[in-house]
Amino acid sequence: MKTSGGSDAMKRRAGESAAERVTDGDVVGLGTGSTTAHAIRRLGDRVDAGLDIRGVPTSFASRELATDRGIPLLDLDEAVGPDGPGIDLAIDGADQVATGGEGSEIPETGGALVKGGGAAHAREKLVDATADRFLVVVDPSKESPRLDRSVPVEVLPAGRTAVAAAVRETGGEPTLRRAERKDGPVVTDNGNLVLDCAFGELADPAALSTTLSAIPGVVEHGLFVGLADEIHVGTDSGVRVDEV
Ligand code: A5P
Repeated sequence: MKTSGGSDAMKRRAGESAAERVTDGDVVGLGTGSTTAHAIRRLGDRVDAGLDIRGVPTSFASRELATDRGIPLLDLDEAVGPDGPGIDLAIDGADQVATGGEGSEIPETGGALVKGGGAAHAREKLVDATADRFLVVVDPSKESPRLDRSVPVEVLPAGRTAVAAAVRETGGEPTLRRAERKDGPVVTDNGNLVLDCAFGELADPAALSTTLSAIPGVVEHGLFVGLADEIHVGTDSGVRVDEV
C-alpha cells in the first residue's frame, strides 16, 4: 500500500532538511521509505565529509542503504541498553499526517501519523518513540486535516483471523496485504503479516491506537500519536518546518 503523491524533488527537500538537523556525535534513528532515503543519502554525504554519527536502522531496507552510504550503525539494543548512548533524533516518513488545522475538529491531534506503507512500522515505532526528538519528513500530498487512510496492523500469522474479527468489531474493515512480486501475503522483516484496516475518517486516533494495541495477536499498528516533534514538508520551492 505504498503511497506517494508528491514529487521526488519535494521528498528530497524534506529529507535533506531533516538531515541538516543532525550534529556531530548524534545517534540517529533511520526510518524507512523513499523520503527518508533522501535523508540517509544526505547523512552519508556528511559522513564522507567528516560528520561523526551512528545510525539505528528501522528495517532491512534502511540498514542496507545506510551501510551502502558508509554510515556506522548501532543495534537498538546497543543504543538503549544500560550503557548505551540513547537515540538523539529519529528521521522517518509517513503515509499521512494530521495537520490538526482548519477543518479538523480535534486540533490537538495535529502531528498524528499513519505509517506502515512499507510494512516497517513496528521497528519504526520502537526507534521513533525512543528518540529524544522525532522528525517527520513528507511532501504536501501526505497532509490532511484528519486521518482517513487505512491503518496497517502487523499481526502474528497464527492470529490473523482472530485479529481481523476483532478489528471488524471495532468498526474497521481489514484486508490482508498481498505481495506484489511473490504469491501470497507480504511478510514483514519480523516474519509477520499485515492487515490494512479501513476505518474511514478517524474521529479519535489516540483512542483507536489504544484499542488496536489491546487486541491479542497485534504486534504493532501504524498509528503514531503524540510522537512527532517536527514535520518537515518539502514543497515546490523549499521546506516548511512545523513544530508539533
Ligand atoms: C514504512 O513502513 C512507512 O512507515 C514509511 O515511512 C512511509 O510509508 C513513508 O514512505 P514514503 O516516504 O516512501 O512515502
